Amino acid sequence: MPGVAHGVIVRSTVANGRIASIDSAAAERAPGVKRVLTHRNAPRLAYRPHKAVVDAAVGERLQVLQDEGVSHQGQPIALVIADTIEQATHAATLVRVTYAQEAGTTDVARVEPVLPTSREGGRPEESRRGDPEGALAAAEVKIDQIYVIPRENHNPIEMHATIAAWDGDRLTLWDKTQWVHNAADEIAAVFGIPAENIRVVSPFVGGAFGSALRTWPHVTLAALGARVAGRPVKVMLSRREMYYGVGYRPHTVQRVALGASRDGRLTAIVHDGYQETSTYEEFSETLVSPTGFLHSCPNVYTRRRIARMNVHTPTYMRAPGEVSGIFALESAMDELAVALKMDPVELRLRNEPEQDEFKKLPFSSRSARECYRAAADRFGWSRRNPEPRSMQDGRWLIGWGMATATYPMNYAPASAMVRLLPDATAEVMSASSDMGPGTWTSMTQVAAETLGLPIERVKFTLGDTRLPRAPVHGGSMTMASVGTAVQAACRKARDHALARGGANDLTDAMRRIGQLIEASADVKPGDASQRFSMHAFGAVFVEVAVDPDLGETRVRRIVGAYGAGRIVNPKTTRSQCIGGIIGGIGMALMEHSVVDGGNGRVPNANFAEYAVPVHADAPSVMDVIFVGEHDPHVNPLGVKGVGEIAMVGVAPAIANAIFHATGKRIRELPITPDKLL
Ligand code: MOS
Repeated sequence: MPGVAHGVIVRSTVANGRIASIDSAAAERAPGVKRVLTHRNAPRLAYRPHKAVVDAAVGERLQVLQDEGVSHQGQPIALVIADTIEQATHAATLVRVTYAQEAGTTDVARVEPVLPTSREGGRPEESRRGDPEGALAAAEVKIDQIYVIPRENHNPIEMHATIAAWDGDRLTLWDKTQWVHNAADEIAAVFGIPAENIRVVSPFVGGAFGSALRTWPHVTLAALGARVAGRPVKVMLSRREMYYGVGYRPHTVQRVALGASRDGRLTAIVHDGYQETSTYEEFSETLVSPTGFLHSCPNVYTRRRIARMNVHTPTYMRAPGEVSGIFALESAMDELAVALKMDPVELRLRNEPEQDEFKKLPFSSRSARECYRAAADRFGWSRRNPEPRSMQDGRWLIGWGMATATYPMNYAPASAMVRLLPDATAEVMSASSDMGPGTWTSMTQVAAETLGLPIERVKFTLGDTRLPRAPVHGGSMTMASVGTAVQAACRKARDHALARGGANDLTDAMRRIGQLIEASADVKPGDASQRFSMHAFGAVFVEVAVDPDLGETRVRRIVGAYGAGRIVNPKTTRSQCIGGIIGGIGMALMEHSVVDGGNGRVPNANFAEYAVPVHADAPSVMDVIFVGEHDPHVNPLGVKGVGEIAMVGVAPAIANAIFHATGKRIRELPITPDKLL
């Protein structure tokens, strides 16, 4: 962008307290520096209330550069604006800050968890049916364990970045975001200006996994910087800043207690979990939600709590809640199978529910049984010797494990527009996003199929607030929601053109009409969620090899079977599933944002020390099976979505396979070699 200046953020080096002094004189004198913004000279911002589905509850938000308070390590305390990124980076090192530190905590082990004060999405923080404690006490076989998942960070290859440019009172943001309209709404609330005055452009997102669902402080800083500098300002987070400037998957601690009869029927489930959150926002995951309906059980207690700490607010990270809660639940189910001397697939089949026992509603469709069978067959599960350490390949210990997966079907209001041109080409648009699953491709495909045009004659556009509004590109809902809107708009346009052109063929009709035909559609869910429980289900089977001397685990094979409704594009969907599975390998074996309990710093905030899977970590066999599922209830397309379920169940299947290989039950992720030696 011509004339762009670069903003670099100075971040607090303490976790709690206030800024006692901040001296930016040397930074201001440095070459190329235009402005240094701190809480002392930054304009006061409106920070009007704004709450969207992706924003954490309480809604206090972190207010940047508005006062001297510091609530967490890495909080933005200054923005240095210079002609080049190098000049801004250098000058940022010259800002001198002293703090008056106050007591607080960044150590999750030292915080007493509390119930959240607000209800995220109406899901209760505590639920009980039957007499879980009594049934647990009376159970013939019992498991009662604690499972821990450390903080994990999203590590998309593309880091977050924003360019902000003002034209009078109108602002344009080129931003990494999974939801352009919410970014506009959020910044409008922060600045106290109408959202119509803000255009957000984000045609491509280089990975996000949830980190770009919300709008983070650097976007405000870019806009603020551009306003005071009187020219466009670009702010790009470094890899290190990705661990301080955007949210993360929170550290979770979960107790799961299972009671069962000797013939393997669940009689009691207690699932009690908590997670870290900040002092200024209550972020609370759906950690325990699947426990209410995944397996049949008359006596169930669930509770989710939060530990308020001097950290920045966590956020959604691929399959948020489900992937963590199901690691605990499905590890415990495997422990129960071992205690019962029962095959883990058989244990699950014996506890397959006939309906959603939490909501007391029928499932719109549930193919868990088909998934167990299809994946077990493909995997060759019947050849498994159940005895731990009984299977070997040379000096490697071989383990086979499995777990169940589920993720809710989400479908939210969406809009799309179609323009049919006289040459029978079509322009289709919706302000959706594509962080990697192939929204560009799949929406083009839905439009072409609905219009009856070859795919080359359809052009789809997304990622701009000037386009019809779409829901957040998250929660595995894009195909269900935006796909349905695209289909509806295309149907309208086609019907209209055929009627007006008096033809059976769209190309003929458009030639006869000789002018543009436009159609829009707004779609929204009906009352299906009152009548049905709607979820995708799956089963994940894993083979690991563990080096008995070095404790190294290699994942050799993964087979995942999913009942996820209609699969619009098998190629992109399989690719999504493989991505989720590899994410699950990272969760199981590698990922861990180490948080210094003394000061909240993340010493491994870099790609050298925060390990993620690379190609060499991906198993050579990754089989993805979609069991045929026709579900007319979920949405007009019959789609449930796969982006998140693909990651669910992978970590417990790996942990269970490691137990089978080694006889060691590891209940704290990641399962690194030190834990196996
Ligand atoms: Mo996903 S965590 O809803 O991007």
